Amino acid sequence: MEKHKYLEMLHKLNQEENLEESEIVSLLACDEQEITEQLFRLADQKRQHYVGDEVHLRGLIEFSNVCRKNCFYCGLRRDNRRLKRYRMSEEEIYEVGKKIAHLGIKTVVLQSGEDPFYDAKTVARLVKRLKKLNIAVTLSIGERKKEEYALWREAGADRYLLKQETFDRELFRKLHPDDDYDVRLECQHILKELDYQVGSGNMVGLPGQSEESLASDIKHFQKWDFDMIGIGPFIPHPDTPFGTFQMETEKKYLLTLKTLALTRILTKTALLPATTALGTLIPGGRERALQCGANVLMPNCTPFTYRTQYAIYPGKICLTEEWGSCLPCMKRMVENLGRRIADDYGHRRRIPLPK
Ligand code: SAM
Ligand code: SF4
Ligand code: FES
Repeated sequence: MEKHKYLEMLHKLNQEENLEESEIVSLLACDEQEITEQLFRLADQKRQHYVGDEVHLRGLIEFSNVCRKNCFYCGLRRDNRRLKRYRMSEEEIYEVGKKIAHLGIKTVVLQSGEDPFYDAKTVARLVKRLKKLNIAVTLSIGERKKEEYALWREAGADRYLLKQETFDRELFRKLHPDDDYDVRLECQHILKELDYQVGSGNMVGLPGQSEESLASDIKHFQKWDFDMIGIGPFIPHPDTPFGTFQMETEKKYLLTLKTLALTRILTKTALLPATTALGTLIPGGRERALQCGANVLMPNCTPFTYRTQYAIYPGKICLTEEWGSCLPCMKRMVENLGRRIADDYGHRRRIPLPK
């Protein structure tokens, strides 16, 4: 495609904050550095305009690496017998939540494999206790029944993260031996009905994923109006069926950033994390993401002994022994970019600011 066509698309993107799916495909596939840089700058401007300079922190507790599912890409999959499994007790989780609140972080994220050991009542009790600490609570514990989601919402849970991983049905099927595309999407629908702030998202660089798949993801993010969208690179784990899949790092990196940038422009006010996976793929990846539309960071607050065992993918960053050390590290990161850490709960601002 000629350069002026890309420039026209960028102009349209700036004016209308929207593109046709086919135009998104073209921009994702474009390897002209100048166009890519312009796209990143535009996403940064829109981020500044719609959500400002604040970066929201979410204290992540990875409380169990036990999983009943077998997703082909994930190191926690049940058939990975090499992984030493752990479960934190309710009391342990609460104590970490308390420490997070004392650090001044306004959101706790409870994440795990799909582990039915934590029944609905246990999770509800934990949410209630955490809410008394005057913090927002996000759950990311997979697919559950509507009644369970409802119980946790009543207990005070504010947000729920359940990434679709891809909105390409065929690809979804190839990634998930025991998941159904429509069931997973229906969960997100139910969560919206229950008035959670709902997070979806995808992985970039999956085997068999095309630019068309990614463009479809971006259009779905826009159409569904998700409050949070986690966009991270797929990092192969050697103890999974996709362990040997290879894609050039720089290509995957740029594709992830482009997906993020386009998502920022099309969704305007969504909360978009600079993911740990991107920081793992490339040193400085999270900093770059913050300059391409992201406005959320997730300090890892899992106790050190467990942290190393929450091995979704290899080489994960932030495996520091000293608990809480991501916080000063992230503060520096944000300040170096001329941005600031937010001190509110960091809920999604639903009404776009006037232009
Ligand atoms: N079990 C819950 C679920 O699947 O929704 C939450 C935990 S799961 C480990 C959290 C996220 O990890 C997934 O949504 C997926 O995007 C990401 N993930 C899993 N394997 C990955 C890999 N190999 N590379 C990058 N991200 C991965
Ligand atoms: Fe389990 Fe989630 Fe990993 Fe799938 S992605 S194997 S559900 S932890
Ligand atoms: Fe976790 Fe730097 S952000 S150690």
